[in-house]
Amino acid sequence: MTATASLLQPITTVSEMKPLLLLPVASLLLLCAAAAAGDPTPTPTPTPWPPQFHATLVMDYHGNMSVADLWYDWPGGRNLHVIRYQLAADAPYYDNEWNNGTSFFYTPARRSCRSAAVGVGILRPDWLRPGAVYLGRRDAGGFDCHVWAKADFITYYEDVRTKRPVKWVFYTGRTAYVMSFEVGAVLENAAWQAPEYCFTKDGGIGESTKISDGHDDSFIPRSVL
Ligand SMILES: *[C@@H]1O[C@H](CO)[C@@H](O)[C@H](O)[C@H]1NC(C)=O
Ligand SMILES: *[C@@H]1O[C@H](CO)[C@@H](O)[C@H](O)[C@H]1NC(C)=O
Repeated sequence: MTATASLLQPITTVSEMKPLLLLPVASLLLLCAAAAAGDPTPTPTPTPWPPQFHATLVMDYHGNMSVADLWYDWPGGRNLHVIRYQLAADAPYYDNEWNNGTSFFYTPARRSCRSAAVGVGILRPDWLRPGAVYLGRRDAGGFDCHVWAKADFITYYEDVRTKRPVKWVFYTGRTAYVMSFEVGAVLENAAWQAPEYCFTKDGGIGESTKISDGHDDSFIPRSVL
């Protein structure tokens, strides 16, 4: 507390100091006392994702709007985004990620598929925790949220009351708003199967390209691990 003492020294010697000017000093003292007593509330940490859930998201990428179903299945080692762009709901785009590092990106309406060897597994339930920096509490569309940033890559909003995610914002400007969050929901096995044209060299009308440079188009890129 030597810093505080030296700060106070010149002020206390000026006896005719107006009381109004002493107010900031008093609050400074209170702050110091609080700090000395130890912060009673530890810095909040992000709630890990449940092992399995289904979320519906509204996504905004600089005005390019989409709705997405996110099926997260940690025990199954798989993660699926089904994205329907505005006025293109009949041609959903799939981002199908497997724990062995393979991702498939396909549009059944066009029989187009691209696969990528990402080199890492799917996001762990606690993917946000390591290296997350707490930014404090902020309002997100009426929800009182804890907010964290990770590696200048993502800003993540979690409802203080229910601990559910409310939204996340990527540094690219892509924002996902969580509209529903069903803990424990699991998609049927058949729906996880990547289509056959993902496994052929010249997959009929569409094409299947394999990329092994780790380039990742995932909606939460796995490099965040
Ligand atoms: C929005 O972005 C997706 C993905 O890049 C694209 O396929 C789609 O055509 C875009 N929508 C519009 C209206 O530009
Ligand atoms: C990854 O897992 C899937 C599903 O089990 C399997 O079909 C695929 O061959 C695996 N890929 C690699 C590179 O091991």
